[in-house]
Amino acid sequence: IDMSAPLGARLTLPNPVLTASGCAGYGRELHRFTPLHELGALTTKTVMPYARSGRATPRMTETPSGMLNSIGLQGSGIDHLVTDELPWLAEHGARVLVSIAGERTEEFAETAARLAGQPGVVGIEANISCPNVADRGLVFACDPDASFAAVRAVKAAAGPDLPVYAKLTPDVTRITDIAAACTEAGADGLSMINTVLGMAIDTHTFRPSLAGVTGGLSGPAIRPVAVRCVYQVYAAMRSGTLRPVPLLGMGGIASARDALEFILAGASGIALGTALFRDPSLPLKVRDDLRETLARHAIRSLADAVGLAHHQP
Ligand code: DOR
Repeated sequence: IDMSAPLGARLTLPNPVLTASGCAGYGRELHRFTPLHELGALTTKTVMPYARSGRATPRMTETPSGMLNSIGLQGSGIDHLVTDELPWLAEHGARVLVSIAGERTEEFAETAARLAGQPGVVGIEANISCPNVADRGLVFACDPDASFAAVRAVKAAAGPDLPVYAKLTPDVTRITDIAAACTEAGADGLSMINTVLGMAIDTHTFRPSLAGVTGGLSGPAIRPVAVRCVYQVYAAMRSGTLRPVPLLGMGGIASARDALEFILAGASGIALGTALFRDPSLPLKVRDDLRETLARHAIRSLADAVGLAHHQP
């Protein structure tokens, strides 16, 4: 079985299993459980041009159906990534998709510019959809014009060699409109989805569980939402209303079965997020189980399975 994941003209990964941004940091802890070179790619925690402390704590809480976070893009900034993390990742043979964000379009560009030519970096994921910033000011992905501007700026700054994926939120009326803005701006691919805006209330204290009140819901509860997003965008690309680009699917994936669901919907690669907290060795299991599943269905390559749910019987 050919498990290679075609993720664009300049990006083919040896297998389709990635980590989702924010769930494996810069790989240092994950590496003890999953050798990083075995991943399709590692997606970093979102980096910004500067260090940032994020939102007040508590900023993570579990619900029976998934996890809520309101981290607020905490991070040590692009200098730290370039100086201390990327060389280490390259030493360990990791292929790295660097997730970036900025408060303004120029900050997206500034961060992207630093990544051209860096060792191990195979692409950029423009995180235009973080739900956890006061007044939701960083949610570029709720507005087609803001999405277009951010993605175009990242493309220009990244140079011709680094593919740029745009990460979308499901919290919009028509995700295909945002997808269109991103592909028109030159996005080489789309990542779907970021967390779903939610909240929980502590029924002992009568107060919101998160200091920031709202947070992003991840885990099994959002999988059907994510599958729907991938399916709708892939359908629009098939019908010619959207320029076709490869899709990365994520949202509650915890098994090869879940991964296959995204692939059938139209994803060429998938990312594991919340499930890593319970089992940091899951990526290799999903990769191997997925290979077996494809073999059982007599599908000879992963690429052949992409979008099959759209085909007539
Ligand atoms: O749920 C999320 N949390 N999505 C993001 O894009 C960023 C992250 C955070 O740092 O709040």
